[in-house]
Amino acid sequence: MNNIQNNNQTIEKVEDKLRFLFKKKYVALCSRATVAIYATLLSINPKDYVIVPANICPSVINAIFQTGFQPIFVDLNLNNFNICLKSLKFILNKHKNISAVIVPHFYGIPAEIEELIHIVKNENDKILIIEDVAQSFGVKTDNLFVGSFGDVSIFSFGYSKIIDVSTGGAFITNNIELYKNIKYVISSLKLKNHNLLNLKEKYRTRYINILQNKNPDDDLLKIGSDFQDLFIHRCNSLFSKNLLKELNVFSENKSKRIFNYNEYKKNLRSNKFFLPDTDDGFIPWRFNFLSKKSKKITELLRDKRINVSNWYPPINVYYKKAEIKTDLTNSIMLGKEIVNLWVDKKTSTSDIVKTSKLINSII
Ligand SMILES: Cc1ncc(COP(=O)(O)O)c(C=O)c1O
Repeated sequence: MNNIQNNNQTIEKVEDKLRFLFKKKYVALCSRATVAIYATLLSINPKDYVIVPANICPSVINAIFQTGFQPIFVDLNLNNFNICLKSLKFILNKHKNISAVIVPHFYGIPAEIEELIHIVKNENDKILIIEDVAQSFGVKTDNLFVGSFGDVSIFSFGYSKIIDVSTGGAFITNNIELYKNIKYVISSLKLKNHNLLNLKEKYRTRYINILQNKNPDDDLLKIGSDFQDLFIHRCNSLFSKNLLKELNVFSENKSKRIFNYNEYKKNLRSNKFFLPDTDDGFIPWRFNFLSKKSKKITELLRDKRINVSNWYPPINVYYKKAEIKTDLTNSIMLGKEIVNLWVDKKTSTSDIVKTSKLINSII
């Protein structure tokens, strides 16, 4: 069998697995989650508003603009770090021309997806629910995998996701028309250009300058367009081989993440900061907490070369074209106070004890 046939068989195996796990009829791999969102949005009309949280990676917001839509930013619920249903209801009441809602399950914590869908479809059953599983592969709610609920659900297997094969994404749906349209859009994209590394560095420099307000004329939409090839492209799905391997050892990955999460809980003085609610179906993407001392903690850990991040700050402020302003009090608070610590299989108990001691010494 030649390499292409071999790869096609692996892609089929992965797609079968996803179809089975999420109980959906149609599945396809693509180069990344952003492409799945981009192709979904290009496939729907009218091109009005898309509701989305502001604490998300810019590639998602850029995909909204690049496909002719406008984002409306919804606030977060600080108990579960996901979409605040009260804020969502407020937006749905006020704005009638909503085409879609992007519903991430942030940090491996399930959003209140069933209630959310009920609210949205009650308002207008034509509004498309795009369930964003980028940070929550394998997470369950009410005994069903998140990703089982949306009209379309999108996945990421890129850097630092729960399944990380450094690149890759997928979408699933029960809607044949949508499936065909999305597949068509994806197949007509340009192939991934392998000189992207150079482009990535340039993008990063401009991106950081924008976040630090160093260039008032620039904004995230402009670099999103200038560097569109970095995010929107077709791929050869060679990642499917590693993805299949990771899917086969998923329960080990999941147990290690949960074990590490509980180790942080044991070692950190958790009464000094705020942890989101989690339940049985939760799989930690990172150990996330809110602390007034987040800046100090981040500086201290970076100083000791320990991995730490503060994802995601609300990025609405970096889009000049975002027309509708909403109350994002909780999104802003999360952006100021969030600390993410690594829980993946490379993180050992001794790493966690060391990190916890450092944090405990300043909170
Ligand atoms: C919630 C969420 N959605 C979508 C994406 C985009 O995923 P990808 O990098 O595969 O395009 C990310 C990436 O970090 C994400 O965190």
